[in-house]
Amino acid sequence: MNSFRFSGNFEDAACNYDRYADVQRRCAEKLVALLLPSGIEVHSFIDIGAGTGFATLELLKIFPKAKATLLDVSPRMLDVARSKVPASIPVLANAEIFDFSGCGFDLAVANLSAQWFHDFAKFLQRLVAGCRYFLFSIPLRGSFAEYTSAFAENGVELPALGYYEETELVDTLRDTWNIRAFQRVVFKKSFSNLISAARHFKNIGANFVDATERGGFAQSKISAILRTEQAPITLTYDVLLCFVEFRENGGADECIHNRNGYGYRQNCRLSLDMPQQFGEVLEADTNWRRF
Ligand SMILES: C[S@@+](CC[C@H](N)C(=O)[O-])C[C@H]1O[C@@H](n2cnc3c(N)ncnc32)[C@H](O)[C@@H]1O
Repeated sequence: MNSFRFSGNFEDAACNYDRYADVQRRCAEKLVALLLPSGIEVHSFIDIGAGTGFATLELLKIFPKAKATLLDVSPRMLDVARSKVPASIPVLANAEIFDFSGCGFDLAVANLSAQWFHDFAKFLQRLVAGCRYFLFSIPLRGSFAEYTSAFAENGVELPALGYYEETELVDTLRDTWNIRAFQRVVFKKSFSNLISAARHFKNIGANFVDATERGGFAQSKISAILRTEQAPITLTYDVLLCFVEFRENGGADECIHNRNGYGYRQNCRLSLDMPQQFGEVLEADTNWRRF
């Protein structure tokens, strides 16, 4: 989906990832909570782009006996995850070329990892060979706009992040998957200035500045902007959480309007401020609606 160089950055970030990845941790909690009303039984699952295992740990709280397989392209991320979940099975692989056929997982989960894939739509087509349910969270278009705007205002266009709109994502899923539930969550995280925000990205392995070198941007100009932009900045993570089921029979479009489903939608906003503290729920539409 985007052309950022990332695997080396995740390697570097692995050891300290848990100290900084508060949005990812909170998102994993909310993502797994989305599954609860379904009542599905999970005996085995694969955590795709598992990182240090936030989603796995949340799933094991509900399904303590489930067999957990953790797939990641970063060996150090897998090492950290295994130290937390020793009984898990690590798989060092690129999810986009991994052969899921015959794996027979009940569930695949991907918490804030699929946005790094080059072709999420193709990945979704491949995944059906290996599991019935897929639970994922992904940032939507507009996420981190404050960050890119801060550079744009200083004459530097960072590469487009290539995130989906909600409707595009639903269309992408439609071919193969029934949406059983989804939720849109806005996380806000504030930093004292632009360079703190940049350091935060680096600390969680998303090194936007390095990535720009490949696009031919002047690193010195970026460094100068980071040094001089002193205004506080709040970053928005506009995230879609989604629980989908493989539509075995294809054909009719049951997307969202699934007779046996419990599709609902909730918007809520969470504020996370430095240093790594979870803020209050600012706004929540708690009237969950059945579709
Ligand atoms: C932002 S981290 C999220 C990690 C974790 N899911 C969490 O909740 O904290 C993204 C992770 O996805 C992994 N990743 C990115 N692209 C991948 C790919 N194509 N195949 C496997 N893992 C990938 C990275 O190595 C990194 O550990």
